[in-house]
Amino acid sequence: MQLGSLQLSSNLFLSPLAGYTNLPFRRVVREVGGVGLCTTDLVNARSLLERRPKALKLIETQDTDRPLAVQLFGSVPEEMRDATQLLESMGVDLVDINMGCPVKKVCKVGGGSAMMTELDKTAALVAGMVNAVKIPITAKMRLGWDDDNITAPDLARALEEVGVAALFVHGRTRQQGFSGRVNLNGIRSVARAVKRVPVIGNGDVTTPQAARHMMEQTGCAGVSIGRGAFYDPWIFQRTSHLLLTGDLLAEPDFGERIRVLQRHFDLMIEVFGEELGCRMFRKVAPWYSRRFGPASEFNKKVVRISTREDFAAVLENYMRWRERFLDNDGQLKSQFQPAPMVASFLQPEEAGAAPSAIPVPKGPIDVW
Ligand SMILES: Cc1cc2nc3c(=O)[nH]c(=O)nc-3n(C[C@H](O)[C@H](O)[C@H](O)COP(=O)(O)O)c2cc1C
Repeated sequence: MQLGSLQLSSNLFLSPLAGYTNLPFRRVVREVGGVGLCTTDLVNARSLLERRPKALKLIETQDTDRPLAVQLFGSVPEEMRDATQLLESMGVDLVDINMGCPVKKVCKVGGGSAMMTELDKTAALVAGMVNAVKIPITAKMRLGWDDDNITAPDLARALEEVGVAALFVHGRTRQQGFSGRVNLNGIRSVARAVKRVPVIGNGDVTTPQAARHMMEQTGCAGVSIGRGAFYDPWIFQRTSHLLLTGDLLAEPDFGERIRVLQRHFDLMIEVFGEELGCRMFRKVAPWYSRRFGPASEFNKKVVRISTREDFAAVLENYMRWRERFLDNDGQLKSQFQPAPMVASFLQPEEAGAAPSAIPVPKGPIDVW
């Protein structure tokens, strides 16, 4: 897939998830394979221009973290333009603009989803960014503010006019937050609204089959996966294989899950240091263990790790504890095996092994 001047190895994208899509996680999904482009968490353009440490940490990268998109949010055209130029000078491959964030703090200053309510102003801001740099500029939007204001098709056309390289569309409105199901018809209407620019569908993809279904139903050129990648870092590899060959690879076995868990832990320590890395990993490890089969012993202990040694001890004890669930061949006895992942479009969310959710803002959207 080609986005402006940027050639990508696949049409699968890691969606930004603030608090999750940090450097260690991006490296993990890249190493597992299948992803074409990874994006940082959203970064405040002004904070970046002021070189705030928090903003600089969010864009921390390495040679092995390529190609990389940084996602900016902001609503002041000059700041967005200058931050884009700064990112280009730092070697970032692509700048994505957040037009989907539903959170009040972002919307009330005209950023995030609020950009979908003022098409001309938004197009002018994007034109300023496109014209200031050589790297591709993309936008990530929702379907609109609410059901009465589905502006995504018109906004997509306006942004195509000013030269964006691709559009990412999360098939929900701002009003929906993260509730309900992704609206594939909504994504299709955006894909149909533009002439050349690739539209990348996004929302609720947690299996390779769901990614293929989204492409078939919407005509989108690629798929961007957020929560599904955190639930399952192998999703890009398996989706890419499915799209290329029509064959569904088996889910990774326990040994592979442990290998990637350990790798993720090591990268967390490398990037954040032992103390913070361990603390952050307490939130990550239980996502891996959901697919281990019996894991209560692991889950109880891993949320208390503070050092490398703690983590090694937790793993070692867990391996011993888990032996009681194995047969003579060292495989999990069938009654203890986790159910296969269920494609979200086929089953209600609570069915089968559909993952319970990464926390999202809850309650009335007006107070988010
Ligand atoms: C915890 C969390 C953080 C998110 N952070 C961002 C963000 O920084 N920028 C953005 O454009 N979208 C953000 N999103 C939205 C996701 O990128 C994505 O559009 C949405 O979760 C639907 O896709 P998914 O079902 O594949 O996760 C976030 C979503 C969640 C759940």
